[in-house]
Amino acid sequence: MPLYILGIETSCDETAAAVMCDGKLLSSETATQAIHEQYGGVVPELASRAHQSAIVPVVEAAVRKAGIELSMIGGVAYTRGPGLLGALMVGASFAKGLSLSLNVPLYPVHHMQAHIHAHFIEAPSPDFPFLCLTVSGGHTQIVRVNGPFDMEIMGQTIDDAAGEAYDKAAKMMGLPYPGGPLIDRLAQTGNPLAFTFSAPNVAPLDFSFSGLKTSIRYFLRDEEKRHPGFTQERLPDLCASVQYTINTILTGKLMQAAQLTGITQLALAGGVAANSGLRTMLQEAATLAGFQVFAPPLGYCTDNAAMIAMSGHFAAQKNMKGSMDDLPSARMSFIQNA
Ligand code: KG4
Ligand code: ZN
Repeated sequence: MPLYILGIETSCDETAAAVMCDGKLLSSETATQAIHEQYGGVVPELASRAHQSAIVPVVEAAVRKAGIELSMIGGVAYTRGPGLLGALMVGASFAKGLSLSLNVPLYPVHHMQAHIHAHFIEAPSPDFPFLCLTVSGGHTQIVRVNGPFDMEIMGQTIDDAAGEAYDKAAKMMGLPYPGGPLIDRLAQTGNPLAFTFSAPNVAPLDFSFSGLKTSIRYFLRDEEKRHPGFTQERLPDLCASVQYTINTILTGKLMQAAQLTGITQLALAGGVAANSGLRTMLQEAATLAGFQVFAPPLGYCTDNAAMIAMSGHFAAQKNMKGSMDDLPSARMSFIQNA
């Protein structure tokens, strides 16, 4: 009998639902919360409320577009964490209520593992083991992926995440939230070597972006003093240079991890993996070294529920059922099942 899994994602500012049948994606719906734009960042309380009003229509749309009835769902996967607690609670409560009423298993999902599982929604997918650079708004990690639930963090950020660095740099340049995609777009017409910013000095596979943030802040302040209107006039060059600096750090560390482990399949995951400059830079470096690069389609890099359903599919295969007692968790370590 086919197993239909409903995936639910509410960890930050996207309310998303997707339906998968035996690992094949049937539908994926995402409602992005526009409310946060005016505040320059995600406001947790507003996110929870927006999830509450969006979750029913988003789930209904995913089920309808999958061409099935709600009663055909055989398992409910939901993001248990990490993420904003209030936002997670909306998805978790909804998933629990639905699993209870349909009498089907629950599959609690780790959001960062799901970003990695996004590689298996569509071919080509990497083979195990591979190295994944997971770069999102809250995380920056190099993960050795031995199996769907056999993952090891080899290095991570000691302060800001890469997405946060993009968003904060964008904010300093007067761009609205989320700034990452805007920097990507403006960088297309800029010179990546126009300006240089300080590179961090941390352990080989760890990351740090707070020094870069300070360096950009002082640079913009000094240039604006000398030449009012500088930021606005040189926006494409600034965006290209910031993007180049962040991506050089990310690419360099992942290449270093590959040399260290001898693993030659490299993967990108998370929102920042949608960055066109990062995809190109890693592809070029990997080609030179004879390595292979995997980057999911853009819609599966940023937050979505297809990746949550994919995690649910892997969990169902391993019979890793959750329970009503599983609480949402703002911080949580990987779910392991080697
Ligand atoms: O994975 P994600 O959608 O949500 C989290 O789990 O955090 O990542 C969001 C982050 C934001 O910081 C956003 O600015 C960044 O990903 N991002 C990008 C691009 N698209 C999204 N950063 C740079 N270039 C992009 N094209
Ligand atoms: Zn994410």
